[in-house]
Amino acid sequence: MSHPPYAMWSALVEHAASLKQQHLMDLFAADPQRADRYTIESSGIALDYSKNFFTPETEQLLIQLAQASNVASLTQQMFNGAVLNNTEQRPALHTLLRSGNAPDGLEAEYAEVTATLERIEAISGALRQGDWLGCSGKPIRQVVHLGIGGSYLGPKMVDEALAAQRNEQDIPCHYVANVDAHHLDQVLRGLDPEETLVIIVSKSFTTLETKANAEMARTWLLGAMPEQALSAHLIAVSSNIEAAVKFGIDKTNILPMWDWVGGRYSVWSAVGIPIAIRYGFATFRDLLDGAGEMDQHFLQASPEKSLPWVLAFLSVMYQHCFAADTHAVLTYDHRLRYLPDHLQQVDMESNGKNRQRNGDLVSYPTGAIVWGGEGTNGQHAFHQLLHQGTRFIGIDFIATLVPDHDHEEHHDKLIASCFSQAQALMQGRSEGEIVNASNALQRQHKVMPGNRPSNTLLLDRVDAKHTGALIALYEHKVFCQAAIWQINPFDQWGVELGKELGENILNALNGGTESLDGSTQALLSRYAAKKKR
Ligand code: F6P
Repeated sequence: MSHPPYAMWSALVEHAASLKQQHLMDLFAADPQRADRYTIESSGIALDYSKNFFTPETEQLLIQLAQASNVASLTQQMFNGAVLNNTEQRPALHTLLRSGNAPDGLEAEYAEVTATLERIEAISGALRQGDWLGCSGKPIRQVVHLGIGGSYLGPKMVDEALAAQRNEQDIPCHYVANVDAHHLDQVLRGLDPEETLVIIVSKSFTTLETKANAEMARTWLLGAMPEQALSAHLIAVSSNIEAAVKFGIDKTNILPMWDWVGGRYSVWSAVGIPIAIRYGFATFRDLLDGAGEMDQHFLQASPEKSLPWVLAFLSVMYQHCFAADTHAVLTYDHRLRYLPDHLQQVDMESNGKNRQRNGDLVSYPTGAIVWGGEGTNGQHAFHQLLHQGTRFIGIDFIATLVPDHDHEEHHDKLIASCFSQAQALMQGRSEGEIVNASNALQRQHKVMPGNRPSNTLLLDRVDAKHTGALIALYEHKVFCQAAIWQINPFDQWGVELGKELGENILNALNGGTESLDGSTQALLSRYAAKKKR
């Protein structure tokens, strides 16, 4: 396998080969302080990475790789607004959205951020106080958020993370991304249009799914009110003001997105307005502050103490030296169950690239396949493959120290499940340790290879601050990996072809004469033959 182009890389490969000869349990036996030594902490998140193939020599290589890949300088450039997204000629300034001040040269952008935050505060305040009235004078009681990808996953994930803070008088939000009308249809059926606010979130305002859902919601609203009343029920978040106005949204109801914030990094912008509406602006501010704290950690910590860098380094080392293709995120907190979905986009849309920044094809694997789910549930399903499967898989266990319920015994069980999974993966079970096998064959099958590494992330609690810090941690992990691979994590050209072909096929369905391959044509004919209309 080819590797990223660093002089020290062959040393890392050689070192990894010697690590593979060791057992993680032996590393603990040799160093009673290991757990302390390899636990680092910031912003209320502790990362225990001691159950990894990692020694003082690995740490030296981690530091060397940080230097060789220029990650500190690239980080500084990102925060200062350099044009790091070189294929679109844009900076990537999501960190400005949660920063308490304007770096030199970014005063104009920062003023826009501040002004938008003021508008979010005003809109959410009016809604929460019942001052924002619908067409018939009733206050708004429900929000429907229409968006997809980065215009959906972040706010949905955060909204669920904060579920313990919900109150009866809150204005709940229903998130719909799928263009499958079953979803929006089902959501709208339960709602009263006169009490509903629809938020259309699309940076481009050209995304087929969101546009189709927006049309459907608009028609639904118009079934209950005249067109001139729509402004009390429709707002948009977009960088394409013209298209949003053309769609019929009052200009004063359009909140900005900027080309210097990528969709998957946009929960910190007006894309996250449902959080302010449901939980209050102060909670939204806490989310930003938590992320801001992680930003400062990322800027200031030395590589071996940097949570993003350590996670990135381990993940890259496992991909290149241990043939790990996938990385699992296992959340032992029900409220974080949408984190893997959000991280899939943050990581795979950012680092699923086959060219370096300079245009050269990469000759080594980039972005891992990110997947995961709720920890305990997975234990009774897919964890089998983690324990006895044949693949090497990077794993992050994520748990919370202090829950927001009073059922301490439940939480003990949840935590015991989490810790025991990481322990079982590491220690395994040899044939000699098996006491209750009914025969030799079963004995063989009960052997657990063990020596399987994992990270454990412990959040003090799940509130807006910690959630913000956690998301920012992974954003920066992804950035560090991109720095190592010398790729641009801020574009997403790969999704464009699918979008174009989707339009073509829609045209063909509507009688167009697009030339299609045989399989696609046959599928279309089968669909057309059964079509309802
Ligand atoms: O199709 C991918 C994508 O462009 C994502 O990058 C983006 O988050 C999502 O679609 C939604 O795009 P928009 O906000 O422009 O509707």
